[in-house]
Amino acid sequence: DKMGMDGDVERVILDEEQIKEKVKGAAKWLDNRLKGADDAVAVCILRGAAFFFCDLVRAMKTPLTVEFVRASSYGNGSKSTGKPTLSGDNFPVEGRDVVLVEDIVDSGRTLSLLREIFLGRGAKSVTTVALFDKPSRRVEKVCADYACAEIDDLFIVGYGLDYAQRYRTLPYVGVLKKSVYGG
Ligand code: PRP
Repeated sequence: DKMGMDGDVERVILDEEQIKEKVKGAAKWLDNRLKGADDAVAVCILRGAAFFFCDLVRAMKTPLTVEFVRASSYGNGSKSTGKPTLSGDNFPVEGRDVVLVEDIVDSGRTLSLLREIFLGRGAKSVTTVALFDKPSRRVEKVCADYACAEIDDLFIVGYGLDYAQRYRTLPYVGVLKKSVYGG
């Protein structure tokens, strides 16, 4: 039992077994996409994607280096504050195949911004992968090149996804009860 966190979840969207399958599928797709790449870098977009990222890169066969970029747009609640603030994005990308890993694509601002930045710095390619795609909330004209699952506009938590920084450590992804966030 996760000290009461389970009780705040209305229903499970992806259990641990299903997450494993999704990770395998994404890893296979990426290995295929990066065939022949000898200078690839996988970029984890902190904090939410860290859990998915670590499972994903370990399931991949393509040799790559790892980088961690801090991106934050939601502060302490659920409301986007516009342009995400970044740090840790100053690693070399020129001529390299960059893989951006997100837990969820919401407005698309984070993915769009990082894509533009890395292409602007001369990346050979930028491939984007997300665990979840929430197209109903899109603001920017982007979508992940590969999304493990598409979801409606539900408040989901777990496996990296938070509400006010909580619930990230749940090993599964579930829908948060409305009574918790007052929606
Ligand atoms: C969330 C999520 C994505 C981003 C998606 O991160 O983890 O990185 O927002 O939203 P977007 O498509 O509207 O840009 P958040 O800013 O909450 O930071 P966190 O990962 O530390 O929770």
